[in-house]
Amino acid sequence: MKILFIGDIVGSLGRRTAQRVLTTLKKRDNIALVVANADNLAHGRGATGSTIKECLDFGIDVFTGGDHLFHIKGFQDEISSLPIARPANFYAGTPGQGYFVAKALGYPFCIISLIGQTFGGENVENSFYAVSRVLTEIKRKKVKMILVDIHGDLTSEKNALGYFLDGKVSAVVGTHTHIPTCDQKILAGGTAFVTDAGMVGAYDSVLGVKKEIIVERFLSSLPSKFEWVEEGKAVFNSVLIDINENTGRARSIERRDFVVG
Ligand SMILES: [Fe+2]
Ligand SMILES: [Fe+2]
Repeated sequence: MKILFIGDIVGSLGRRTAQRVLTTLKKRDNIALVVANADNLAHGRGATGSTIKECLDFGIDVFTGGDHLFHIKGFQDEISSLPIARPANFYAGTPGQGYFVAKALGYPFCIISLIGQTFGGENVENSFYAVSRVLTEIKRKKVKMILVDIHGDLTSEKNALGYFLDGKVSAVVGTHTHIPTCDQKILAGGTAFVTDAGMVGAYDSVLGVKKEIIVERFLSSLPSKFEWVEEGKAVFNSVLIDINENTGRARSIERRDFVVG
């Protein structure tokens, strides 16, 4: 079956763009399940129950998290009732679950969220040990298809995690940099891999933020307030992964990238 994984959706322009693209893409590519990273879903930082529900209504099924996930106050009280996996290597006292088991064409499909080691310092566990623990736990539930989102800056960490999980999960996809990489491949053990899926957000921006603000940030040491681009041309970055539902092995991974508007 075919699964679409969408990179970080940034703010209202990102959500509108995702809706526009999915309207045709889901049918065209016969997609059974849509997963997206929600780290920047609401106003560019964090997620809310209402922005998640908005996306559920237009066809996204499950979400993953990242460093900004709990930025907006109140989300910690909403997360448990929503189809979202927060980073599994956040400390155990964090609300929500590190994985979410969805149904795709009647088959159980597990989505695991992880955060890279450059975030959070002592407040984040090692992602390799955390994912091993989650895999031991879900094995009992007999889930064949598993997708892991590793949200981080370090390409080396993401690549190493791909090899570490090869043959143990169906796909390892990276997020957080907002920059799509073209290294999608099937590893020897049948795991689909890409270093970063990219983002859905403003085309003419730095990671979705107004470009002038970020340029200025590199020119002076004064504090600056981020503002996100909410109108105009946008990018939609994702990967389409074909998985054998009986073995959990990936058959193919292809990029699905569009510029809209
Ligand atoms: Fe992001
Ligand atoms: Fe992030």
